[in-house]
Amino acid sequence: ALPQTVKIVEVGPRDGLQNEKTVVPTEAKINLINMLSESGLPVIEATSFVSPKWVPQMADQVEVMQGISKKPGVSYPVLTPNLKGFQAALKAGASEVAIFGAASELFSKKNINCSVEESLQRFEEVMKAAKEAAVPVRGYVSCVVGCPYEGQVAPEKVAHVAKRLYSMGCYEISLGDTIGVGTPGSMTKMLEAVTKEVPVSALAVHCHDTYGQALANILIALQLGISVVDSSVAGLGGCPYAQGASGNVATEDVVYMLHGLGIKTGVDLSKLMDAGAFICRTINRKTSSKVAQATCKL
Ligand code: HMG
Ligand code: MG
Repeated sequence: ALPQTVKIVEVGPRDGLQNEKTVVPTEAKINLINMLSESGLPVIEATSFVSPKWVPQMADQVEVMQGISKKPGVSYPVLTPNLKGFQAALKAGASEVAIFGAASELFSKKNINCSVEESLQRFEEVMKAAKEAAVPVRGYVSCVVGCPYEGQVAPEKVAHVAKRLYSMGCYEISLGDTIGVGTPGSMTKMLEAVTKEVPVSALAVHCHDTYGQALANILIALQLGISVVDSSVAGLGGCPYAQGASGNVATEDVVYMLHGLGIKTGVDLSKLMDAGAFICRTINRKTSSKVAQATCKL
């Protein structure tokens, strides 16, 4: 049976913008987050506390965190790869963070400059500090079906990393098809392996749409009982360390599908589309959302 309610985790301000070559003005990022908050989204990933040398677009993380109007009931998690990032996030007023690992060694090395095992040790440090500060921690696993450097990734590897993150205290594990190569076939195999190790109530899916399979993959996840879906307004996004991958599935398209299934999201689609139109105008990009494109033609 499908879930009655789905929590959408909007990752546009972070995943959506991190790959933009031209630096987006801080004011525009703040406006985007505020507009997304007004649309009824429950979770908006706001920025990353990563090295500005690695991801220059996220260098204004403190200004973004301090400039947004935090709407009661909405959470604004940020990425923190290590203790340094965690401490900076806390200082900037973050009340929720995410650590991000990978099921593939080479991606881990390229993305966060350490092995999978080393990353898990760093994450333990973040987790310890987060527990002391009573900050909830979300865990990402990247490359859950394929890796831009290693090719296919075995479901058992994903299950292993997901279990480690869950055991160390992550309240939710987001399974990232970083390069958008998954199909309902490979997603099913991966999810079957992971759900043996982590309760389905603690899982989320994070689908990039490179091969146009994201909505189908999400539907598979819903059918297996997963009720948390990551997406990005206007389908913006990509990872700087995964060349050629396209953006996340568009939030507008996810909302349209979920509402069509009679699943509640709490999101006002028309306000969400205003936020998508705003950011596309500002960064001079065409939306990747089919729903936004379709409505433009009406
Ligand atoms: P490193 O170079 O190995 O770090 O980078 P280090 O500890 O050796 O330190 C080197 C320098 O970085 C030092 O500064 C540190 O202070 C500084 P220097 O002395 O040279 O001036 N540094 C930091 N500065 C700011 N914030 C920090 C921080 N840590 C160290 N937190 C590091 C390691 C993890 C920092 C680096 O590799 C990095 O920032 N990587 C981030 C990559 C990234 O953001 N990728 C995109 C997000 S992941 C993603 O998109 C996938 C996802 O969407 C899911 C999916 O789709 O699969 C989540
Ligand atoms: Mg991503």
